[in-house]
Amino acid sequence: MTEPQAAASTTYIGKARARIDGPLKVSGAARFTSDHHFPGMLYAVPVGATIAKGAIKAIDTSRARQMPGVRAVLKRGDLGPLSRVTPDFGAGLMVDEPRPPFADDVVRYYGQYVALVVADTFEEAKAAADAVAVAYAAETPNVDPHLVAESTKVVSERGDAAKGYAGAPVTVDARYAISPETHNPIETHATVATWDGDQLTLYETSQGVINHRNVLADMLGLPRDKVRVIAKFIGSGFGSKLWPWPQSPLAAAAAIKLGRPIKLVLSRPMMFHGVGHRPRIEQRVRLGADRDGKLVSLQQDYVNTTSVLDDYEENCGEATPHMYSVPNLRITAGLARRNIGTPTAMRGPGAVPGLFATESAMDELAVKLGIDPVTLHLINEPERDEGLGVPFSSRHLKECLTLGAEKFGWSKRNAEVGAMRRDGVTLGWGMATCSWIAARFDCTVSIELRDDGTVRVASASQDIGTGTYTVMAQMVAESLGIAIERVEVVIGDSGLPRGAISGGSMLTASLVAPIEEAIAAAGRALIAKAVQGADTPFRGINSDTLEFKRGCVARKGGAASAIPFNDVLRALKIASVSGEGAGQGSFGAAQPKVSSHSFGAHFVEVTWQPDILRLRVSRVVSVFDAGRIINPLAARNQIEGAIAMGIGMALFEGTEYDTRSGAPVNANLADYVVATNADVPALDVHFIEYPDFNLNPLGARGVGEIGLAGTAAAITNAIHHATGVRVRELPLKIEQLL
Ligand code: MOS
Repeated sequence: MTEPQAAASTTYIGKARARIDGPLKVSGAARFTSDHHFPGMLYAVPVGATIAKGAIKAIDTSRARQMPGVRAVLKRGDLGPLSRVTPDFGAGLMVDEPRPPFADDVVRYYGQYVALVVADTFEEAKAAADAVAVAYAAETPNVDPHLVAESTKVVSERGDAAKGYAGAPVTVDARYAISPETHNPIETHATVATWDGDQLTLYETSQGVINHRNVLADMLGLPRDKVRVIAKFIGSGFGSKLWPWPQSPLAAAAAIKLGRPIKLVLSRPMMFHGVGHRPRIEQRVRLGADRDGKLVSLQQDYVNTTSVLDDYEENCGEATPHMYSVPNLRITAGLARRNIGTPTAMRGPGAVPGLFATESAMDELAVKLGIDPVTLHLINEPERDEGLGVPFSSRHLKECLTLGAEKFGWSKRNAEVGAMRRDGVTLGWGMATCSWIAARFDCTVSIELRDDGTVRVASASQDIGTGTYTVMAQMVAESLGIAIERVEVVIGDSGLPRGAISGGSMLTASLVAPIEEAIAAAGRALIAKAVQGADTPFRGINSDTLEFKRGCVARKGGAASAIPFNDVLRALKIASVSGEGAGQGSFGAAQPKVSSHSFGAHFVEVTWQPDILRLRVSRVVSVFDAGRIINPLAARNQIEGAIAMGIGMALFEGTEYDTRSGAPVNANLADYVVATNADVPALDVHFIEYPDFNLNPLGARGVGEIGLAGTAAAITNAIHHATGVRVRELPLKIEQLL
C-alpha cells in the first residue's frame, strides 16, 4: 500500500479558505442572472400545456393581448426559425431536449411551452399568460410509475453471471425503485437576453457557457461570435443547468423579434416541468456468493423513464463493474417512455441510484450470510478495475472503511435487528461504500501578469456555488507565490478562452494543468521581453539561462537573482504580459490505461421511535478518497451538501405525477420535501489524501458528487438494522415502518 504523499509545504493548496466571492454574495453585490436589468427590458412568462399528451387545437390570445402592459403573445409561427440541434458532447453541443420550442402542435408533457407572453412588468406578463386560452385534443398520458423496459441492452458483462448465480450457495434477488427527483437549486432557471441588431447577449443560469453559446447560436442560426453567454454567479444547478432548456431560445428569439431586452425567470412550479429531473428508476439486483462472502455473480438490470421525445439513460451501472471483485457480472439497461419532460443528469447521475441498489443488496447479502457488512466489502475489494481490465490510478476504499468504522465506533455494533438502544430510542447502524468517476475535460486558461503585482486568470468556466473562483485563485497564488488577494479570477463568460463545464465533479481537476501552463507561458513571454529590455538586469542574457519560478524571473539555479514579475514589468515599462495554457481532457477516453475514481464510505446512525413513528438520521461519519484536497473547507461544504441531499433522497424527495393530467402534483417546495437543517445532524467528514497524479499535477480529483453516492443506501441499511424493514423504494414512506 502506498503512503499518502508527504505534502510539500504550501501557502494555499490544501488550506481551508473562505470563498473569495463570499463578500459579494452576502452583501448582495453578486449579480445572478435575474438580477440583470436593462433599459426598456420586458418580462416574458411562458404558457405551459395543461395536458401531458395530445394536440393543440387552437390558441386564443385575444384577451391576453388586450391586457395592460402586454407587448406580445407569441406562439408557434410567431418566432424566427429555430433549428434543431443534434446533441454532441465532443462538439460542445449538448442539449437535453433538442426539439425547438413551438416546433409543432403536439403536446408530449405537462408544462411544455405553448406560448410566451411578453409585457412591461412581470405581473402583467403573468396575468396575461393566465388569460391565454388554449384548446386541446387531449389524450390519456402515460405517467405510470411501474416500469417495463421497451428495449434493453447489455452495458457491461464478464464471465457467465446466470451460471454463477445458479451455482451460488447464497443469493440475494431484490428490486429497488427510486422516485423521480426534481432538481431544486435555490436559483430557478432564468435567461436575460439582449439583442442590439447584431449581437445577442444571454445572461444565463448555465453550468457551461461555451456549450450554451454553441447551442443557442446554432438554434438561432447566428454565428457563434455573435452570441455571448454570461454566467458570473449561479445559484447551483445539480446538473439541471448543464445544457440549455427551451426557456433560453424562447427568451432569445423574443428579444430578437421585439428588439428589446427580455427577462424570463422560471417559477418554482415550472422547475418541475421542462428543465430535467432524475427519472424514476427500477432496478433488480441479483448477487450470488460463497458461504464465506466472496461474490461469484452480480446482475444488475435497470430501467428508467425517459420522455417521448428523447432517450435519456440513467447510467446506473456506472460504478458497478469496478466496485466489487466478482468474476461473473452482467448489467442491462432499459428505457420506458412516459409523457413527462426529458430527464437529465442530477448530481452523481447513474452511480448514485446504481449504488443505492447494489449497496442495499450487499447489505441484504451480509445479513443473509451473517457477516458484518464492512467485512463483506473488504472481502470483495478488487485489486484492479475488473470491468475495464486496468489498474486503478489510486484506490483506497479499504482505508475509508477502516477509518470510518473506527471514527464511528462500528466495532460496538450489535448486528441483531433492533437490539441497540440509547436514551430510550432504538438505534440503527448502517453503512455503504461509494464511488464517482474522476476525469478531466478539455480546458483552456489565460493568465495576465500585471505591473501592479496583480494577476488575472480567465477561462470560460463557471462557479456554480462550488468554490471555483476560490480554488482557481488558490492555484494561481500558490504557483506565483503571491497573496491570494492579488489574483483576479474572471470566469462565466463565453468570450473567454474555452473552459470546461461545471459538471461531473471534473472542473477543478481540469483546471490544474492549464493554469500551470498558462503561468509558464506568461513567464516565457516575460523572459523574452526581459532579455531585450533596457532597464532590467537580464538584458542581453541568453533567455535559456533564465527561468520563471514562484512568480519571479531568475537565473537558473540562482535564486538570489530572482526578481518578481511586477518589478520586471515596471523596469520594462510594460503594463502586462499574458500566456495561455490548454489541458487535454481524459473523460470518455476509449482505452484508458488506468481507472480513475474517487471512493468513500458512509456510516450512518438512525434513531427510531416506533411509538410515535419518528425516524431521524442522528449521526453520519463519511470518509473519502478523493485525491488531493485543494480547499478542505470548500470540499467539506460540497460533501455536506451532498449528504444532506442523500438524506432527502432516502427520506423525502419524490416527484408525483397525476395519472389523469400528467401534472407533477407536488411542484413546489412545500410539497416536494427536501432535507432542511433540522433533518441533517452534524456531519463528520474526513478525507484521506492520496494525490492522483495520473489526473493532474496536484493530484486533485473532484468532490461535487461523491458525497451523495451511497448515502441513501447507508441510511436505509441503518433503517433495516433499527426496524427490520428493508426499504427498497425511495423515498421512505413512514407507513412502511408500521
Ligand atoms: Mo453534475 S449532474 O455533472 O451537474
